[in-house]
Amino acid sequence: MNTKYLTRPTEVAKSFLKETLKKGDVVVDATMGNGNDTLFLANMVGEEGKVISFDIQDLAISNTRELLEKNRLSGVELIQDGHENMDTYIRDEISGAMFNLGYLPKGDHHIVTTAETTIVAIEKCLTFLKKNGIVTIVIYYGHDEGKIEKEKVINYVETLESNKFHVMKVDYINQTKEPPLLITIIKK
Ligand SMILES: C[S@@+](CC[C@H](N)C(=O)[O-])C[C@H]1O[C@@H](n2cnc3c(N)ncnc32)[C@H](O)[C@@H]1O
Repeated sequence: MNTKYLTRPTEVAKSFLKETLKKGDVVVDATMGNGNDTLFLANMVGEEGKVISFDIQDLAISNTRELLEKNRLSGVELIQDGHENMDTYIRDEISGAMFNLGYLPKGDHHIVTTAETTIVAIEKCLTFLKKNGIVTIVIYYGHDEGKIEKEKVINYVETLESNKFHVMKVDYINQTKEPPLLITIIKK
């Protein structure tokens, strides 16, 4: 692996998901944004699998739809609703989920994920997660709400029972400018 990938939490998250996901799996993109993670997940699980992606913004849905069409990928469910309502839409066990918190790049920076709804969404996600399934959460905290969200999400995941989950934090500890950090949760 090219080490450049290990300097970006989103790429580290993907490398963990690559180790665990297989064709036919059902997975969730909890924060669709411009669709990059949805595209990655769709390629991982193939046409026989299913990706269920959430975002609250029209722009995220249209950008993601366009990206998927460009890549000739279908069969992804693009849901315009908060990830905190994911239990309304998910019917199967899931093998993995990605959270990429913060605001839509090149979008409205005032529309951000918030601690309360993010934690509800993580909690719900874990109820659908299969044994050995993985949830990745990349936290951006360069903005005000991001700082609150970082503290609360870390406090929450620290409380997950150690006999049920492995929780890991990947943090770049010598960087300036508040680099994003990665949390992974694996179900035992
Ligand atoms: C950092 S972006 C995601 C980037 C994306 N994964 C990609 O590959 O481009 C965060 C996204 O979370 C969305 N968001 C904010 N609150 C949300 C919520 N309650 N449920 C789902 N998405 C939400 C924002 O609209 C924004 O598009």
